[in-house]
Amino acid sequence: MRVLIIGCGYVGTALGERLVRGGHTVFGLRRSIAGAAELSSAGIQPLTGDVTRPADMAALPDSLDWVVNTVSSSRGGATEYRDVYLEGTRSLIAALSSRGIRRFAYTSSTSVYGQTDGGWVDESAPAMPAGETGRLLVETEQQLLSAAGSGRLPALILRVAGIYGPGRGHLFQQYVRGEACLNGDGSRWLNMIHRDDVASALHVALESGHPGEIYNATDDEPVSQIDFFRWLDSQLKRGIPPAADEIERAGRKRGVTHKRVTNQKLRALGWRPTFPTFREGYASEMRLEKENRPGLKPGRSTQLD
Ligand SMILES: NC(=O)c1ccc[n+]([C@@H]2O[C@H](COP(=O)([O-])OP(=O)(O)OC[C@H]3O[C@@H](n4cnc5c(N)ncnc54)[C@H](OP(=O)(O)O)[C@@H]3O)[C@@H](O)[C@H]2O)c1
Repeated sequence: MRVLIIGCGYVGTALGERLVRGGHTVFGLRRSIAGAAELSSAGIQPLTGDVTRPADMAALPDSLDWVVNTVSSSRGGATEYRDVYLEGTRSLIAALSSRGIRRFAYTSSTSVYGQTDGGWVDESAPAMPAGETGRLLVETEQQLLSAAGSGRLPALILRVAGIYGPGRGHLFQQYVRGEACLNGDGSRWLNMIHRDDVASALHVALESGHPGEIYNATDDEPVSQIDFFRWLDSQLKRGIPPAADEIERAGRKRGVTHKRVTNQKLRALGWRPTFPTFREGYASEMRLEKENRPGLKPGRSTQLD
């Protein structure tokens, strides 16, 4: 296959490496050439371009089989979300329609589920996020589902949970730095996935996924925040973080969701995570950290990022 990964960053590079190993020809696009050497060393052919510039999208390589959009707005606000996700996707649909693409995959987010009752959600659950950024992701998804429905682009969507892996994992890093806080009683559910499992999920979706479908990409076991900290404490002996103060708690509460996301639909495609739960995933990350940076020992304060 000739594959183009647009926004070939943390996840995109892991996917690209995997596809190159599988004998595919992979192009990876970013805005700057700063990461070109990293892509080249992974066997990915670097391209520069900006998804928000239709002219750049019109100049993409020919004869592509699979296209993946893993562009990230880098935690920007609504303006960046609109430009990068919604308008970027519109440009891509316009540029790629009727070009014989076999599959187009887009990484949306489980943050589109605004549920707060702690129950399980699958892909048929309403996606009604409280915030504007979440609504922009839903609008982006709808553009792609409409393009798939009308036969313009065989697009499918992965709703990805919180990604962790080498150098990533916000709550884990806060914990290690001694800066983590418990929100409320810590009962809020966390849904997570290891970066390498996002890459394998995208691979399976490209091979076997159906256009117009949505697949949740998350591991097998949502964990409450307190149980996550308890497990980290059992591994690193740094205790349970203190409760957040009232002001922070009130601020967070407004946009906070509370739900358990199921991956059954993706599993039904044949996907099996290498790291079925946070335990296997973070145990692996801790082993790697200890090998590379021996400072990660129980009771020591280590800067991971
Ligand atoms: N992180 C999470 O927990 C999480 C959760 C759910 C879903 N997701 C989604 O998963 C996907 C992959 O995330 P990631 O962590 O791999 O992101 P990432 O590391 O930030 O990579 C994104 C890449 O996109 C490129 N990029 C940014 N703006 C661009 C633009 N306008 N045109 C072209 N390229 C652009 C960046 O490179 P340059 O800056 O050089 O252009 C970067 O290489 C994203 O779609 C993200 O929204 C992430």
